[in-house]
Amino acid sequence: MTDRTSSITTHNGKTSELPVLSGTHGPDVIDVRGLYKDTGNFTYDPGYATTASCKSAITFIDGDEGVLLYRGYPIEQLAEHSTYLEVCHLLMYGELPNKQEGQEFNEIIKQHTMVHENIRDFINGFRYDAHPMAMLVGTIGALSSFYHDSLDITNPKHREISAQRLIAKMPTIASYCYNHSRGLPFMYPDNNLSYVENFTRLMFAVPAEEFEPNPVAVKALELIMILHADHEQNASTSTVRLAGSSGANPFASIAAGVASLWGPAHGGANEACVNMLDAIVNSGETIEKTIARAKDKNDPFRLMGFGHRVYKNFDPRAKIIQKMCHDLLSELGGDTPMFNLARELEEATLADEYFIERKLYPNVDFYSGIIFRALDIPMNMFTVMFAMSRTVGWISHWMEMHEDPEGRIGRPRQIYTGAAKRDYPT
Ligand code: SDX
Repeated sequence: MTDRTSSITTHNGKTSELPVLSGTHGPDVIDVRGLYKDTGNFTYDPGYATTASCKSAITFIDGDEGVLLYRGYPIEQLAEHSTYLEVCHLLMYGELPNKQEGQEFNEIIKQHTMVHENIRDFINGFRYDAHPMAMLVGTIGALSSFYHDSLDITNPKHREISAQRLIAKMPTIASYCYNHSRGLPFMYPDNNLSYVENFTRLMFAVPAEEFEPNPVAVKALELIMILHADHEQNASTSTVRLAGSSGANPFASIAAGVASLWGPAHGGANEACVNMLDAIVNSGETIEKTIARAKDKNDPFRLMGFGHRVYKNFDPRAKIIQKMCHDLLSELGGDTPMFNLARELEEATLADEYFIERKLYPNVDFYSGIIFRALDIPMNMFTVMFAMSRTVGWISHWMEMHEDPEGRIGRPRQIYTGAAKRDYPT
């Protein structure tokens, strides 16, 4: 950090010398903590578009250059060379594991893949047609009622074991939400399989038959999970930090993140995007008409899977997923009308002034839904897949927040626009 300052002189003639802070990468930051004391003014930044809420060493994004780094490593290199559990170790502990550390971490995760038998009963209590995200948000919160031995958030060992339990149990719980919605039996994890192989078995195996993980599906899911593992201070991660800042236990904090991710403007966009592509294919609507609707200010319709608060260039994850999508569909059975439509939509928007001017490019959710569908994962499970991958990002930020010496309860202020002070009519 530096000792530079920015001088602010406000409309009411007050001045404030505010420190300027610099990180490893990214823009300098004006520390506005002294502004109110010096000038009597708050700052106003709806959606926090230009506000740094914390210092973090986990992930860096450069939206203009389309750069994404996990603990300094480019996402493209991790996508090519790493595994999801290796990325989990990197995000949680800050370094790639050596061979022994990797084996030890994998073994620890394997020891926590099962859930208490009562969790099965808890999930079976949901209606048959409950949305899997509704089951997930409830079940993750309910984990707080099972682990009284590790809820002391001031104890680093409790924080670590909770992180390991969440990473290990997410595939098991996600598959139970899926199996419940289809009336299928819940499978037990098989610790002889890799993390992602085990997930495909939990999802698609039945007790009546042998199951062999499909290597094509495992490779595609491993990549998708690496790409979705973390993304700096997005809405759901900021929700986890805000919930955790009050001292809420890790399971309650992550449940808050699951809830925030569900929204169609965030993690729910993959399901919304495939619904949109489905509707266009089935209605026979032309691409020109679809794009005209997306541009029409009187029409609430937006192109799901396009745009991003930070990326004003291509989302680097979308580029990787697009190629994997193409390869997967070639391996599994040729391009589908939906994938062809997606590529036509992408080409059309890249040449359209409205999208160019607003720097709206396909984001990570644009192609991921097409891949999940190719892997026979139903649409209402797409955001559960996102949540399963992002759990390590959420819990890594939750741990970092508790280790931050400047950490304090989050409590934004406001501009009050309500009624002026008035007396009760007597
Ligand atoms: C994720 O933050 C993260 O890192 C999130 C994420 C992660 O990994 O955690 O990357 C995952 O959530 C990706 C985003 C998935 N959401 C969608 O695909 C939903 C569709 N996209 C939009 O709703 C929107 O682009 C957001 C929510 C993603 C970003 O919204 P912003 O930054 O608040 O932008 P905005 O709404 O102010 O839009 C700016 C302009 C507006 O037009 P004008 O008023 O300037 O004329 O762009 C337009 C918007 O109308 N616009 C779109 C559009 N997105 C923005 N117009 C048509 N279609 C779109 N998709």
